[in-house]
Amino acid sequence: MAAISIMGTFATGCNDTPKNQQEMTFDEIVATRRSVRQYDPEKKISEAEIRTLIETAIEAPSWANNQPVRYYVAIDPETVQKIRELLGTSNMRNTADAPVLVVSTFKKGGSGFFRGTPANELGDEWGAYDTGLSNAYFILKARERGYDTLIMGMRDSDGIRKILNIPNEEEVTAVISVGYRVSDPNRPARKSVDDITIFF
Ligand SMILES: Cc1cc2nc3c(=O)[nH]c(=O)nc-3n(C[C@H](O)[C@H](O)[C@H](O)COP(=O)(O)O)c2cc1C
Repeated sequence: MAAISIMGTFATGCNDTPKNQQEMTFDEIVATRRSVRQYDPEKKISEAEIRTLIETAIEAPSWANNQPVRYYVAIDPETVQKIRELLGTSNMRNTADAPVLVVSTFKKGGSGFFRGTPANELGDEWGAYDTGLSNAYFILKARERGYDTLIMGMRDSDGIRKILNIPNEEEVTAVISVGYRVSDPNRPARKSVDDITIFF
């Protein structure tokens, strides 16, 4: 119930003043963040604004403070269009008016490794774990600033690697669109605490 009233107050927050957005509590930021698949073509995002989001993402924890995550930001319209064409039909359509596409990668062989050897069965998957944490900070900070995002795992990583000159030592993970919502998406159903938790 609380979340619904929060949505009523804040989900249209993209049209509110930045002051209103910065007054959101953490729970309000979480409640109003949604995957946004339609962006306002009139509203742009600056490099400075993206830098603010990455500054927050840098604060995310990582394996032994390895900090394996890297961000490649397509912000000039020509590069945005080139990356967009590598997202598949539905992601391409859904990001048609997103002003910025951010590609995240992680440097392999660091997180999950001890002296060059995998520390346990997950190996480089810990790099993906660190990237997810960093991306989570990024999208929540974006919401706090009044922007909206869509994390996309469906993308042509080889094509993106070529266009952005991403070295082979890095694994391409998600592409994240950043922009402003035109309407408030529904909240997809979630499992309950009891569905996903066992206490001992
Ligand atoms: C790792 C990951 C990959 C995703 N890939 C896509 C994608 O390629 N296209 C898309 O439309 N949504 C994608 N999503 C968004 C999810 O569908 C979305 O987070 C989920 O349905 C819950 O909705 P919400 O984000 O609005 O809470 C992805 C999300 C994550 C975390």
